[in-house]
Amino acid sequence: MPGPKRCRLPITDILLLALLLSCGGTGLLLAQSSDGLDHGQGLYHKHCLECHGATGKGDGVRAPFLSPRPGNLVSAATSAKTDKELLRTIAQGKPRTDMPAWQDVLPVEDQQAVLQYIRSLIRFTRPLTPPPPNQ
Ligand code: HEC
Repeated sequence: MPGPKRCRLPITDILLLALLLSCGGTGLLLAQSSDGLDHGQGLYHKHCLECHGATGKGDGVRAPFLSPRPGNLVSAATSAKTDKELLRTIAQGKPRTDMPAWQDVLPVEDQQAVLQYIRSLIRFTRPLTPPPPNQ
């Protein structure tokens, strides 16, 4: 019968196409985000590390000489801030602190890449204490 045959071929084709697209798509996405992170990491190491420290905890080599000290970028307080808020601080600096304004140094894409890298420093670990038992 011609009916089922005509029906089966397109489905196989569509599945194959979906498979190819999803594989290709994932590869592309992974490549893009890790490229972005590498770029952000390079920028962070060059411009931010000396104050904010390698893990973002605010323990860079210059930190002991600053008042107020750079805070912990991976703290709950900073993590809870929106991209918009943090990008504003990165662009304009933070008044009455040594946090410089980067808007004349880094293009907007670089400010975003460095923020993406800061976000990637946050690692969620399993809490040390077990959750309370169900009542
Ligand atoms: C000269 C030292 C210094 C350098 C260099 C520096 N910062 Fe800061 N940064 C600070 C200080 C001090 C603060 C204010 C205290 C705080 O909020 O952590 C701050 C604050 C911030 C905040 C705000 C955190 C919050 O919770 O509001 C962000 C985001 C930030 N810095 C990102 C960066 C990035 C990205 C770079 C590199 C492009 C950088 N800083 C370079 C000293 C520095």
